[in-house]
Amino acid sequence: MIIDLQANERWQVIDELIDSLVAAGKIIPQNRDAISAAVKKREAAMSTGIGFGIGIPHASSNLVSEVIYALGRSRQGVNFNSLDGQPVHLVWLFLVPEGQIQKHLHTLANIAKLLHQPDIRAALDRVQSETELQDLLRPVMLGNAPFSPSMLPHKQIESALQSAVQAVLPEADVSAVLVRPCPDPKFGDYQTNALMALAKARKLNPRQLATQVLAKLEVSAVCEPVEIAGAGFLNFRLKSTVLAEVLAGAARGEHLFFRRAARPRTVVIDFSAPNVAKPMHVGHIRSTGIGDALQRTLRLLGHDVKSDNHIGDWGTQFGKLLLGWKEILDRPALEKNAIAELERLYKVINAECDAHPARLEAAKAELVKLQAGDAENTAIWKQMIALSQQQFDAIYGRLGVKFDFSLGESFYNPWLGEVVNDLVQRGIARASQGAIGVFSDGSMPPKEDVFLANRDGEWVDDPALVRKSDGGFNYMTTDLATIDYRLKTWAPAEIVYVVDDRQAGHFKKLFATFARWQPDAAKKVKLVHVGFGKILGDDGKPFKTRSGDTVKLGDLLDEAEERAFNIVSAKSPELAEPQRREIARVVGLGAVKYADLLPNRQSDYVFNWDKMLALQGNTAPYLQYAYARTRSISRKAEESGLHYQPAGIQLAAPEERALAGHLLNFSLTLEAVAEELRPNYLCNYLFELAGKFTGFYEHCPVLKAPDEVTRNSRLALCDLTARVLQQGLRILGIETLEQM
Ligand code: ARG
Repeated sequence: MIIDLQANERWQVIDELIDSLVAAGKIIPQNRDAISAAVKKREAAMSTGIGFGIGIPHASSNLVSEVIYALGRSRQGVNFNSLDGQPVHLVWLFLVPEGQIQKHLHTLANIAKLLHQPDIRAALDRVQSETELQDLLRPVMLGNAPFSPSMLPHKQIESALQSAVQAVLPEADVSAVLVRPCPDPKFGDYQTNALMALAKARKLNPRQLATQVLAKLEVSAVCEPVEIAGAGFLNFRLKSTVLAEVLAGAARGEHLFFRRAARPRTVVIDFSAPNVAKPMHVGHIRSTGIGDALQRTLRLLGHDVKSDNHIGDWGTQFGKLLLGWKEILDRPALEKNAIAELERLYKVINAECDAHPARLEAAKAELVKLQAGDAENTAIWKQMIALSQQQFDAIYGRLGVKFDFSLGESFYNPWLGEVVNDLVQRGIARASQGAIGVFSDGSMPPKEDVFLANRDGEWVDDPALVRKSDGGFNYMTTDLATIDYRLKTWAPAEIVYVVDDRQAGHFKKLFATFARWQPDAAKKVKLVHVGFGKILGDDGKPFKTRSGDTVKLGDLLDEAEERAFNIVSAKSPELAEPQRREIARVVGLGAVKYADLLPNRQSDYVFNWDKMLALQGNTAPYLQYAYARTRSISRKAEESGLHYQPAGIQLAAPEERALAGHLLNFSLTLEAVAEELRPNYLCNYLFELAGKFTGFYEHCPVLKAPDEVTRNSRLALCDLTARVLQQGLRILGIETLEQM
């Protein structure tokens, strides 16, 4: 645990830390003074106040038999004779066995490096429990530790590899030294290409660097002897015993091949965000599905997610809607289908406004009254929101999507005036033709300047408008107030916007404007636009109904269930209708969601019912079917009285080995999804898993296995595959069925 240091003088602080190790039973009391003397001797010869408020007193001693350490924080600060002359607030005492200082120099360097990260120091300041502390310190402390099943093998390899690289290249930033699954299992389970990049940057021979790193690399507890391949890759093959041990742990229910993040981040995810008084259309499946998959992935990995549905509940359209409501509202129609009626009101009045300037004036007058807080207009507006929300909720209910918050655009109205005033006062925004906008400040070359646009070869202003000439505010203004609110309310490390790529320009300007408005706050948060492409019809044009209208999301989901029902009924007519309906619901919705998550999100994709509902190929029904099949094997085993004992795992056949190795890659896949905000990685992982399972099932009899040990091991592999498939699909927002 981290102790709160009482003393304010260097030597006393060192003794306080040593005493804490005595109290913890890590140093025997008789050795206290000698160890204290050893640390002080070293500290006197060369101060360990490395700057940034950090001190790392250390020593080697024959009185300790393993690496031990203690951490303390000092409120008032201690004079550690630091490089930067600043008082020290964090002290890490580090003791190693006699003669091992040389060996642990890179660990020391890693400690220094770790503590240099402001977010780590901040996290250390907040640490509550021993496990939290262990998680934070893990990157530096486990370089040479024996295999520990609580740490997944690829993480152990990575951490040992980072230590080895640090020993060879002390100045290198090892955070980018990572291992990835080997593309071809022939060469091993994991691979790193990081050494080639390091060598290139230093004009070193990559194979030579690899040889040097290999000499310092200690992974024999987890891997077969490591090989250098090609231009300087390192390939790692896990020992089968280690692989089997990790699988056995999973079979005992200790983990499911992933670990929660050592450093959880607060991430705001802004997604779905439909507009009031309009039907949700097919395009909304994209933001809703991708956003939901991301929130589920980040949560599973232990991050603190705030999902926020930024509903479009404010804007000029309400002038027309209000006019329509007051003049031509058809109450029975509203009761029957509110959104359709609201849509009709808008269309009729909009056409009138286009034709007659007086109608447009009348609509504007309604809007001004709403903006001024007129009671009648406010009440109508609220009804429109409530009616729309019912529609949204019905769709979210079907899709199984939940939000932590639904703070619509109107929520930010009270702050918009202040935002604009502040921007003007700081000289960031200025008036132009009656409106107010943020213009280029000339600090960027035109090509990279988001406030400039190229028209016919000439660079012209393309400002971020924050107030219209009629005094109204813009989409941009609301988004600026929204960032401000989110930072003040949740202090997130990241805000992710899952919005159509057609709004890429808006987000570029938004992020740039915010950075100019609040430069310090902007440095603390990563603002990311997670863009996506269009859904196309067979003709390669945006997906429409036969009559050329946009496809309503509700209708699309109905059709998905109906088509799936026909398929199920043809395949399994013997099942009762309610059961066929339920299968059809899970399969139909799953198919639509999966087809949308599978392509690289920035590409457009062609909507194709037959393809997405097929039981063959990379589809949800295929994966759901693979899941049901693994479950049926377990069921059959139970029915024949073969109770499966989660015991040892055997990986004799190559297909068993391949399946096991792929199960272990679940963690890397989840991390990649969270890092790059791309759920399609998980789709492809699951598809491959189902393929590896098929290979295993075809070659390795399970129920008819030659002996009980083998059968139990194979039943465990079936069960683990089922669990990963189910967990993976769940993260994609897709349900599974025990029987199909
Ligand atoms: N309602 C907007 C639209 O339909 C999307 C809002 C996205 N989120 C945001 N913070 N701008 O275009």
